[in-house]
Amino acid sequence: MREICRRLSHGSFVGIVMVGAMTLVVTLAHAAWSFEGERMSPVQGREGMVVTSHFLATRSAQEILKKGGNAIDAAVTAAFSLAVSQPRSGNIGGGGFMLISSEQRDEVVAIDYREKAPAKATVDMFLDKEGGADSRLSRYSHLAAGVPGTVAGLAFALEKYGTISLKEAMTPAIQLADKGFEVTPLFSDELKENEAILKKWQSSSKIFYKPDGGFYEPGELFIQKDLAATLRRISEGGVKEFYEGKTAELLVAEVAGHGGLITMEDMKNYSPARREPVHGKYRGYDIYSMSPPSSGGVHVVQLLNILEGYPIAEYGHNSARTIHLMAEAMKRAYADRSLYLGDEDFVKVPVQGLISKFYAAIIRESIDKDRATPGSTIAPGRPQPIEGNETTHFSVVDAFGNAVSNTYTINFSYGSGIVVEGAGFLLNNEMDDFSAKPGVPNGYGLIGGEANKIEPDKRMLSSMSPTIVKYQGKNFLVTGSPGGSAIITTTLQVIMNVIDHGLNIQSAVAAPRIHHQWLPDELRIEEGISLDTIKILRGKGHEVKQQEAMGASQSIMIKDGMMYGGADPRRSTALAAGL
Ligand code: DON
Repeated sequence: MREICRRLSHGSFVGIVMVGAMTLVVTLAHAAWSFEGERMSPVQGREGMVVTSHFLATRSAQEILKKGGNAIDAAVTAAFSLAVSQPRSGNIGGGGFMLISSEQRDEVVAIDYREKAPAKATVDMFLDKEGGADSRLSRYSHLAAGVPGTVAGLAFALEKYGTISLKEAMTPAIQLADKGFEVTPLFSDELKENEAILKKWQSSSKIFYKPDGGFYEPGELFIQKDLAATLRRISEGGVKEFYEGKTAELLVAEVAGHGGLITMEDMKNYSPARREPVHGKYRGYDIYSMSPPSSGGVHVVQLLNILEGYPIAEYGHNSARTIHLMAEAMKRAYADRSLYLGDEDFVKVPVQGLISKFYAAIIRESIDKDRATPGSTIAPGRPQPIEGNETTHFSVVDAFGNAVSNTYTINFSYGSGIVVEGAGFLLNNEMDDFSAKPGVPNGYGLIGGEANKIEPDKRMLSSMSPTIVKYQGKNFLVTGSPGGSAIITTTLQVIMNVIDHGLNIQSAVAAPRIHHQWLPDELRIEEGISLDTIKILRGKGHEVKQQEAMGASQSIMIKDGMMYGGADPRRSTALAAGL
C-alpha cells in the first residue's frame, strides 16, 4: 500500500519543501507563481484563466481563449493536450467528471464520463482460488480496465456547451504527439520510477523507453507517432471512431489477446451521462460538486456541513483544534462512504440524507472536542432516507461567465501500465476502484461493500470531486484535485482555506494539508505542520503520520471581476495563465 501511495504521489514530492519547491516551480513551471510582498501571489487575468498540471496544456487552452473560445472549448483542448504531455494521468483511455457552470443560464451541470465495467464482468472476477482478492489482477492486468469514457465525455461537453469543433480542440494535442515535446525532469523521473510496470509489456516499453531500453532524459524530444495517428483518426471520425472504428478494434484486440473482457459491444454501448451535481451551502456560499458514481461531492458537502458548526476561522488555519475537528469529521464521512456510496444507476444512495444539515448536527454530537474517537469504534451512521444520490484536475474560466472544473484519470500513475498496441495510449486500471471483496481495501486503502460490488455495465465508485463554489449567483471558486482517497479532503481544505481562513488562491492550494479516511486509523499530514501542533494532536489521541504530498489542486478564484489562478506547487510542471 505504501509503495502504491509513494508511486501515486510522486511528482507531488518536491513541492512540499516550501522554499525548495518555490525555486523549482519558478524554474520549471515558467513562473507559475511568485512571491509578492510576504504572501504568495496568484496569477491574475480579467478575460480568462486556465490552471492545469502541465504548462503545455495550459498554453494550448489559453490560445483557445485568446481566439474567443469559451471555457468549455479551452477545457476540452487542455484535456486532449494532457493526454499527450502527461500520459501518467492525462488520457483518452480513462474517464472522469466535468462540472460546468454558466452564470448566464444560472445552471451548473455535471458530466459523468466515468469508465464502466464490461458486460462480462462478474462479482468475483478478482478473487483467487482461496477466495482472496488478487490485487495484481485488478491493477496490472488487462482485466483491470474499465470501458473508457474520456473521448465520449469530452466530445459531449464540446457539442453541448462549446463553440469549436472536435478537430480544433484536438489539433494542439495532435501536434504535440506528432512533433514531440521536450522532456521535463518530472516526466523523466516518473518514467524511471515506473519502469517495472511499464516494461512488462512490449507495447508500453516501446512507447516510453528508447529502443535499447534506455531512459528519456530532460531536454530530449519525446514523440508519440501511434498516439498522434489515433488522435488524428478521432479528430476526423469523431466519437464513433474511438468506440466503433479502428481505435476500438485495436483496444479490443489488445484486451482480448490477454484475457481481458472489453468487447466491441461494450465500446459501442458506452455513453456519458448528464447528472445533477450535489448542491450544498457553506457559510452563505453555494457548493456544487460531483454526484455519484463519485463519492466526492457528497462527502465534500457532508464535511463542510459538519465543520460549519464550529468557529473554524477563530480556531485558525492548521491549528491543532481545527485539524482535530477536520480529522474527526473525515473519519465519520469515510465510514459512511464505505457503506452507502456506489453507482446510483445500480444502488440507491441516500444522497439527500448524507448532505443534510440535520445529519451533520447528529454527527457533530458524536465528536469530542478534546479526544480522538478511535476508528475501530466508528461505524457508518444512519442518514435519513430523504430521497424523492494519478488523476489530474484542471480549472478554466472565461469572460462569458462560464467555469469548468474537470478531474479525469486512468486511476494509478500510468493506469494498468498497458499501452494498446498500435494505438499508443494506456489502458486504465479503474476496475480496482470497485470493491473486489467486501472489507478488502482498494489501492487507496478504501473499504467498500455491497453498494460498490462489481456488476456488468456498472460504474466503479470514485472520489473525484470537481467543484464549483458560487457566491450570490456568481462563480467564485473552481477547484478539485487528484490524490485517490485524499481528493475529497484536499478539495475540502482548499474551500475552507479560502472561505474560513481568507487565504488567496495560491496560498490556499500551497498550504500543507491533512487527511483522515477512517481506516487505517491515522491522521496523515504533509510537511509544514508545526511540531507544537503535532504534539497537541498526539495528546488528543491521534496517530499522526507525516507522509508524501497529497493532491494537486489546480484552482481558480474570481473576485470583483478579477480571475486569480493558483497552480499547486506539488506538481513542478503546473502552470496558471491568465488573459
Ligand atoms: O476515481 C478515483 O477516485 C480514483 N481512481 C482516483 C485516482 C487518483 O486520484 C490517482 N492520483 N493521484
